[in-house]
Amino acid sequence: MDNQTQQVMFSSKSNDWETPQHFYDKLNREFGPFTLDPCATEESTKVSECYFTPSDNGLFQDWDGQTVFMNPPYGREIKEWLRKAYSESLKPDTKVVCLIPARTDTKYWHEYCMRAKEIHFVKGRLKFGNSENSAPFPSAVVVFESQPQTIIKTMEAR
Ligand SMILES: C[S@@+](CC[C@H](N)C(=O)[O-])C[C@H]1O[C@@H](n2cnc3c(N)ncnc32)[C@H](O)[C@@H]1O
Repeated sequence: MDNQTQQVMFSSKSNDWETPQHFYDKLNREFGPFTLDPCATEESTKVSECYFTPSDNGLFQDWDGQTVFMNPPYGREIKEWLRKAYSESLKPDTKVVCLIPARTDTKYWHEYCMRAKEIHFVKGRLKFGNSENSAPFPSAVVVFESQPQTIIKTMEAR
């Protein structure tokens, strides 16, 4: 792992992997137009018309009826964001598109992501924020919407 990647990972903002603009634009064309960014700051938001910051606490807000783009903090709290994304998507006319690390062996992946309508695995690695370097983890785009699900199944390791 090179110095720049280490600095991003171990800084106080290490869980805030800002979406590359070109990748956001692609998702916005395919799944949007997005109307809400629930994980943001004034500086980092991808949806300037409607976003929640840590002081609003997006986890406690209503996402009802929105087309949401969610790139959450990637620390332990990510499971709370996926729980929220899934439960909000059960509301009428609500779609939540999540950009997350493809950690397919985690409990939250099996609890929530496996109930998604679609999962898109990103080929190659994204370059988050202003980094010139690729992320040290693979990414996935998980789409929650209360519509018939694409078939996704699990298999036991043993
Ligand atoms: C991975 S960054 C994504 C930033 C931007 N939305 C993007 O896609 O590039 C996660 C963001 O969530 C914010 N955040 C952390 N906890 C939050 C909370 N409880 N409510 C709203 N935003 C929060 C962080 O400050 C950070 O800006």
